[in-house]
Order: sequence, then C-alpha cells, then structure tokens
Amino acid sequence: MSTQKPIRRTTAPQITRRKGGEPIVSLTSYHAHTAAIVDKYADFILVGDSLGMVMHGMESTVGVSLELMIMHGKAVVRGTQKALVVVDMPFGTYEESPSVAFRNAARIMKETQCGAVKLEGGQRMAETVRFLTERGIPVMAHTGLTPQSTNVMGGFKTQGRDEDTWPMHVEDAKAVAEAGAFALVLEGMVEPLAAQITKEVAIPTIGIGASAECDGQILVLEDMLGLNPTPPKFVKVFGNLGGQIEAAVKAYADEVKDRSFPTEDQVYR
Ligand code: KIV
Repeated sequence: MSTQKPIRRTTAPQITRRKGGEPIVSLTSYHAHTAAIVDKYADFILVGDSLGMVMHGMESTVGVSLELMIMHGKAVVRGTQKALVVVDMPFGTYEESPSVAFRNAARIMKETQCGAVKLEGGQRMAETVRFLTERGIPVMAHTGLTPQSTNVMGGFKTQGRDEDTWPMHVEDAKAVAEAGAFALVLEGMVEPLAAQITKEVAIPTIGIGASAECDGQILVLEDMLGLNPTPPKFVKVFGNLGGQIEAAVKAYADEVKDRSFPTEDQVYR
C-alpha cells in the first residue's frame, strides 16, 4: 500500500470560500505542457473558448465546438495535478434550455474529468446555472463583456461606461450568484462597477480587464507571455515568448542551412 498522500485538486467550493481573502490566481491554458507550469501557481486554470482564436486562428469564439473544448480540456487535465480545471461551454451548447445545457456540461465533465464548467450570461442564464448546480455540475458564471455575444453587443466594448447600465450588471451578477454559481468572471468592466459587484455578491469575482477591485484575476496565458502581437490594452505583458520563439526558430534555420544540425550523437540509430 502506498504511504504517499495523493495530491488533492482545488475544488469549486474551496474557490468560493476564498471570497474577500487572498486574491485568486488564474490563467487560461489549452495545452498539457503549459498547463503543467501554470498548475504550480494558479488556483484554477480555465480552458477558455478563447482557444478558438489563440490556438485555431478563428475570428471570434462563436465557431468553437464542444469537441474542441473537450479535446483541449482533456489535455489540460492530463497535464495538471493541483489546480481546479474549468472548461468553457462553447456558444450554442447551453443557451437553448437547461436540459440541453446539462447534457453538454455532463459530457464535458465526464470526458475531460474537469472540476467545473463556465458559461456566459447573467439573469437570462440563472435558471440554467441553478439546474446544473442542483444536478452536480459546478458552474462559474461570466458577465460584463461576454465575447460569445459580441455580434449582438457590436464588438468588444468596455461595459459600464454609462452609469445607467450599472443596475442591470449588478442584477446579472446577483442572479447567477443566487442561482448557485461558485464564482463569477467579470470581463471588460469599469472599475467602480466591478467594485460594487464584488461588494454586493457573496461569491468571488474574477476580473479580466475589470480592475484590481475583484477577488481574483485571470488573463489569457499567450497574451501575458508576449505571444500575441496585439494583446488587449489592459493586459500587462510579463514575457517575450514571441521574440524568444522567433530567435530560436531563426537560429535553428541558420544551423540547418549550414548543415551543422543534427550532430553525430543526436542521430537516431
Ligand atoms: O475564453 C476565455 O479565455 C475566457 C476568459 C477571457 C475569461 O473566457
């Protein structure tokens, strides 16, 4: 019998209990090797549907399929041990009805072994959030700028610039919190509105372009690593991965052209 204690993954209720405490650290990841690195420092890892743009060159998240999310979700769960893995429900897989949402969320949970799903929308999705959580599926909600609705919203626009819209945003956040969401992503939102929502809801708020007033932060990994040549304005870039990859690829190409690669002991025999 093994005497080693198994490493336990962070759970959705543990994230909820962090409300108002030490800030919650999160990044996206779509890929086993990067997820293994992020796992050392993040409380939860989001397999976001932003992978449609980042990994697959799509123009928006609208074209992302359930199969794609499941494939990347599996990779991230395999690459990690500690962080809670949350997988996005893609556009068209949950809006129709709570039972359609349950069928697709259950498929994500079973096939990827992730610990929770995320879906976009406030008051309009509250019934679905309740339906899923009552049936064993932890749900992270996402309000403010909701990228799956940008065709209706008219683009990626910061929310709450007009103070008259604040009550609607506060009601959206309260509706999903009261329906049982374990945490709430606030995207693209002015600081005083994010601060008000964070004060008024009982679950942690996770900001992305929504100020440091939230209970935690999330960024798209490739944006903060410097791999995206045009990251959103609010992103602080912590690395220069694009430049490093280019320098390495150039050095490799130069070596191959010089016929100095591979060396004798690197050849398979
Ligand atoms: O898909 C994604 O990466 C997200 C984050 C922006 C929160 O939903």
